[in-house]
Amino acid sequence: MGGNWAGEAADLLVAAVRGGGHIALSGGSTPRPVHERAAEIEPDWSRCELWWGDERCVPHEDLRSNYRLARESILDLVAQPPGVHPVRTEHGPEEAALAYDQELDGVELDLALLGVGPDGHTASLFPQASTLAERQRRAIAAEAGLEPFVPRVTMTVPYLSAAKVVLFLVVGAEKADAVARAFDRPPSPATPAGLIRSREGRTVAVLDEAAAARLQAAG
Ligand code: 6PG
Repeated sequence: MGGNWAGEAADLLVAAVRGGGHIALSGGSTPRPVHERAAEIEPDWSRCELWWGDERCVPHEDLRSNYRLARESILDLVAQPPGVHPVRTEHGPEEAALAYDQELDGVELDLALLGVGPDGHTASLFPQASTLAERQRRAIAAEAGLEPFVPRVTMTVPYLSAAKVVLFLVVGAEKADAVARAFDRPPSPATPAGLIRSREGRTVAVLDEAAAARLQAAG
């Protein structure tokens, strides 16, 4: 927690990159500096494979594409690129989600990077959404509960919770209430970020001071 949140998160991402294995990225604006810093620290990403915890069903060159975010902030910057598994957004959300679910069969995530929206959503799992109840599938179609209002594909609560490390990256005062609900209160479908914790491994939240402002002091 604190000023160097991007550096702390980048170190955790680099550890996963160097360890090889499967890494699920998130979208939004927070990850970009973390990705860029990690790409600067470690030029060789060839031992790991990248997945997307959620994706907007838009073309990969669309500014709203989470794949485009990773291409610009990782893939175009590293000397030895990773294996990549983008969501096939050229199909509709249901077909793309089914294909992704099948592609993820047998894949155990080593690291799931997640953001939290001001409403407490994470990936494309939105408050009170029916997607929160999915227990079998690894990836499903989802309706957007916040901008951008485009159909989504998202990994599910049980699949993200199966990751060896779940790493939340949350910055900004506008997230403080959602952070308090996600990390200081009992799990609730009102705050999907509070439903995801690594079952077997570690759950880490890297926060700046502003996002952590409403957390009860650890004690
Ligand atoms: C998405 C993201 C989403 C994001 C949060 C936080 O596709 O929109 O995966 O879950 O992590 O909305 O976004 P910011 O980092 O922009 O605050």
